[in-house]
Amino acid sequence: MVDSTPATGSPFDLRMAALSLTNNCNLRCRMCPVVQTDHFDNLSRTKAFEVADFLVRRKFQGLCVTGGEATLAPYFWEFMDYLRGTDLAITLLSNATRLKEERIARLTGWARLSVVVSIDGTQSVHDGIRGAGTFESSTRAIRAMTDSGIRVGVNTVIQRANFRTLPDLYEFFKPIPLAWHSFAYAEGRYENECLSLEELLASEAPLLDIMARSKTDGREVSLTPGMVRGFYLSERFPDIPLHPGKGCTVPQHGFHIDADGLFRPCWHYAWPFPADKWNINTRTLDDMVDSPEYRQAVLEAISGKCRGCSTLCYVWDEDFKRKVTEWPHRMERALPALYLKDFVRRRMPALFGMLKRVKTSTHPK
Ligand SMILES: C[S@@+](CC[C@H](N)C(=O)[O-])C[C@H]1O[C@@H](n2cnc3c(N)ncnc32)[C@H](O)[C@@H]1O
Ligand code: SF4
Ligand code: SF4
Repeated sequence: MVDSTPATGSPFDLRMAALSLTNNCNLRCRMCPVVQTDHFDNLSRTKAFEVADFLVRRKFQGLCVTGGEATLAPYFWEFMDYLRGTDLAITLLSNATRLKEERIARLTGWARLSVVVSIDGTQSVHDGIRGAGTFESSTRAIRAMTDSGIRVGVNTVIQRANFRTLPDLYEFFKPIPLAWHSFAYAEGRYENECLSLEELLASEAPLLDIMARSKTDGREVSLTPGMVRGFYLSERFPDIPLHPGKGCTVPQHGFHIDADGLFRPCWHYAWPFPADKWNINTRTLDDMVDSPEYRQAVLEAISGKCRGCSTLCYVWDEDFKRKVTEWPHRMERALPALYLKDFVRRRMPALFGMLKRVKTSTHPK
């Protein structure tokens, strides 16, 4: 049963938004889908402030400021100063290479701020993925921020170039008081940076190693054995997503706005929203979230139209996080049948095709 109690005056219980100020970036990380384009958009200053006002007025809990590299937006510091005066919990995602000490001073003493910095390996691995010198500048900024009492989390994207050396990275950060160190598998198929099936399986050992070390050290690493196993299984059985779409709370609790103004309840579902009509440059946010089309599309998606996804992007949502971390346990009983199906599909394609045709004729859609 979907809880559609209006807590903010909008159809659902909206509480969280993500806003991309620009899709441009000073880096070109190997696995990044955002910069795989020749066309860069920047959200205007007016629109960014309008979104912040909307969130305050509708009593949202939090805003994630992201990009591209959000610090490139010309109004970035003015925007951050403004957000600091609100009750919103702010999460800034940044590569931190542009966060020099004098800028960092502007972020100190802000209780509701978290800065998430991407670090993808120890020096040579990170620089190989993100560009020469970036490890040095990003980790210098991390140290300066934690020394100033700013809450800093590190996010590491697990990919072909780093998965074997992740425990070394974990050890590098041990003396630094991070709020957490999260790990997420690379999504998409960009330039073959994502792990193959075999590499995915081989990535289990270093991640389980980190989990064991973090227990002893009492450090938060945002990993569970369930997540690690779940990713392997969802890759092996792509028809079975890690996170079931039915009843998904993500589109009921938040939305994204991209640098070109595009509005989407989540980024992993094909919403029936034409890009020109669902855009903060052509329509107000109030108009969009209060419209019957919005409510209808979300209800349809979470009532079974969305077949699910395997992203970890939305772990800010506790319900989503629980499902992602527990998924494999729920699926354990179904695994023998899945392995058998997979075996028949790979080794006996003719039989597989015949069984599929029989199934379709017995249970037509
Ligand atoms: C697109 S970046 C924007 C913020 C900032 N530029 C940074 O790198 O932290 C947001 C997050 O997505 C991660 N990311 C990049 N490519 C990814 C991929 N293919 N799959 C999953 N996460 C990815 C980045 O490492 C970063 O933690
Ligand atoms: S710094 Fe962030 S936005 Fe820029 S290329 Fe790397 S992952 Fe993408
Ligand atoms: S695509 Fe993923 S996040 Fe979006 S509604 Fe479906 S399951 Fe939820």
